[in-house]
Amino acid sequence: MINTAPPEKTSHYLERIAQEAGFIDQTIRDLLEFSRPAAAEDQVFAADDAVDEALRMLSFHKMMKHIEVKRTSPQKSPLIKGGKKEITQAVMNIALNAAQAMKGRGTLDVSTGIESAAALIKIRDTGPGVKPENLKRIFDPFFTTRGDGVGLGLSITYKIIERHNGLIQVLSPPGSGAEFDILLPLAPPEQPENERANSGS
Ligand SMILES: Nc1ncnc2c1ncn2[C@@H]1O[C@H](COP(=O)(O)OP(=O)(O)OP(=O)(O)O)[C@@H](O)[C@H]1O
Ligand SMILES: [Mg+2]
Repeated sequence: MINTAPPEKTSHYLERIAQEAGFIDQTIRDLLEFSRPAAAEDQVFAADDAVDEALRMLSFHKMMKHIEVKRTSPQKSPLIKGGKKEITQAVMNIALNAAQAMKGRGTLDVSTGIESAAALIKIRDTGPGVKPENLKRIFDPFFTTRGDGVGLGLSITYKIIERHNGLIQVLSPPGSGAEFDILLPLAPPEQPENERANSGS
C-alpha cells in the first residue's frame, strides 16, 4: 500500500503499521509472561484512563470500523492501583472479542463507575452472546469458538484481574448480547502530608 499510495497517505500507513506491530509485540509478551507473575507495576491511576487508552488503541483495528462505541464515564473517575498497561490490555481483549462476536457491526457500550466500594468497568455488546454451555469455559486457556482464535485473550484477562485482586464476570441472557463486568478495589485515599507525619507508625 505504501508503494502505491500517494505520498500524503504514507505517514498514515506507517502509523497503522506501528500500531499493529504494537499489538503483535503485546501478544507475544502476553504469551511469554502467561505462566509467570508479571513484574509488579504499582501505580495509582484513573480506571477511565486505562479504558479510554484501550478504546483509542482499538480504534485503529479494522474490526472496530463499523462498531458504534458508547462511552459513559463518571464525573470523577475511580482510582485503582496496579499496572495500567495490564488493565488497558484486559479491556482491549474484552472489547475486541465483543467486536469479533458482533462480526464488526453493532454497538459497544463501555461504562465506568463505582459499585459496592469498587471500581466497575462494564463492557456490553449487541452480538449473539455466549452460549450457556460455554459460559464456564470461556476463561480457560485455549478455549475458543473462533476459527482463527487461539483462546488466550480471556484467560490472560482473567489472570490480570486476579493479580489486581479484582473480579470478572460475564452475563449473557439469551438474546441480548454479552456483558463483561470487571470489579477492582479502589486505591486507598492519599493521606495528606501532615497526617502521615503524625501517624506514628
Ligand atoms: N463478547 C462475546 N460474545 C460472544 N462470545 C464471546 C465474547 N467474548 C468471548 N466469547 C467467547 O469466548 C471465547 C474465548 O475468548 P478468548 O478471547 O479467550 O479467545 P478468542 O477470542 O477465541 O481467541 P484470542 O483472543 O486468543 O484471539 C471466544 O472464542 C468466544 O467463543
Ligand atoms: Mg479474544
